[in-house]
Amino acid sequence: MSDIRTVGVVGCGLMGSGIAQVVAMTGHRTRVLETSQTVLERGFARIRKFLDDGVAREKVTPDLRDATLANLLPAAAAADLGDCDIVIEAIIENLDEKRKLYAALEDVIGADTILCSNTSSLCITELAAATKRPDRFAGLHFFNPVPLMKLVEVIRALTTSDRTYEAVFAFGQALGKQAVTAPDRPGFIVNRLLVPFLLDAIRAYENGLGTLEDIDTAMKLGLGHPMGPFTLLDFVGLDTTYYIANIMFDEYREPAYAPPPLLKRMVLAGRLGRKSGRGFYDYGKG
Ligand code: 3HC
Repeated sequence: MSDIRTVGVVGCGLMGSGIAQVVAMTGHRTRVLETSQTVLERGFARIRKFLDDGVAREKVTPDLRDATLANLLPAAAAADLGDCDIVIEAIIENLDEKRKLYAALEDVIGADTILCSNTSSLCITELAAATKRPDRFAGLHFFNPVPLMKLVEVIRALTTSDRTYEAVFAFGQALGKQAVTAPDRPGFIVNRLLVPFLLDAIRAYENGLGTLEDIDTAMKLGLGHPMGPFTLLDFVGLDTTYYIANIMFDEYREPAYAPPPLLKRMVLAGRLGRKSGRGFYDYGKG
C-alpha cells in the first residue's frame, strides 16, 4: 500500500484516537479531525500517555514515540483532509451525523480517495449508499484498545469494488493488524459471536449461575480469556453493548440477541461500566 501516505481520521474519542495512533505509528501522515477541542485534546493526551508508558516499558523506542507524535496533525475542518488517500470515520454511531460528515468530506477529497467507517453496528451498504462513492467505501472495524488489539475486520458493502476491498485489506495489514474479511451483517464476525455470549452471561447471572466474580474467574481461567464476561462488559460499555444488541435483535429477530432486562435497567440507571465509574463492578467514581 505504498500509495497510501496521508490518512484522515475523523473522531478522536477512544476508538478514533487509538486508530490515529496506530496509523501514525506505522509511518503515515495522519490528519485528525475532531469538532470538539476538548475531545481532541483528551485524545492526543491519551496517545502521548500510551507512547510514554510504552517507552517506560521498553515496548516503544523514544524515536518511534517522537516520529508518531510528529505524524499526528490536528485538522480544524473537513477542508484540511483534502490531500488524504484514505479517510477513516470513527464518529458517533448516528446515520445522519455520518451522512453529514461524508457530504462535507466529498466536497474536498480526491476522486480516488477511499472512505472507511469504523462503525460496529451500522450497515456498511447503507453507509456506502449515503455517499457518492459507494464503490470506494468499506468498513474497517478496530477493537479496543486499538494499539494493543491485533485484529481488524474488513467489511465490503454490496457496492464495494474489488480494487477498494483489496486496498483496504492491504492497508489494514500495513497498520500491523491481522485483517479478516467479515460480512456486512450486524456484528460482523466478532460482535456477532461476542454479544450473544455477553448477553447470555447476564441471563445466567440473573438465573443464579454464580457470583459475578466466580463467573468471571471461571471464564477467564477456564478458557484463557483475558477478561471474564462482566469485566469485559464494563470495559466495552453497557450502553454500547445494549445498543449493538438492539440492532442485532432488530435484524435477526432471534432471542439470543435480545438484551436482558437487567442490562437495560443498568443502562437506564447510568451504570455504563468503567467509563461511568460503575457497571457490574464499582470503580469508585459512580
Ligand atoms: N505501549 C506498548 N505496549 C504496551 C503498552 C504501552 N503503553 N501498555 C501495554 N502494553 C503491552 C504490554 O507490554 C503487554 O505486552 P506483552 O503481552 O508482550 O507482555 C500487553 O500490551 C498487555 O499489557 P498489560 O499487561 O498492561 O495489560 P493486560 O495484560 O492487563 O491486558 C488488555 C490488557 C489488552 C486490555 C487485555 O485485558 C485484553 O485483551 N482484554 C480484552 C479486550 C477486548 O476483548 N477488546 C475487544 C472489545 S470488543 C470491541 O472493541 C468491539 C467493539 O465494536 C465493541
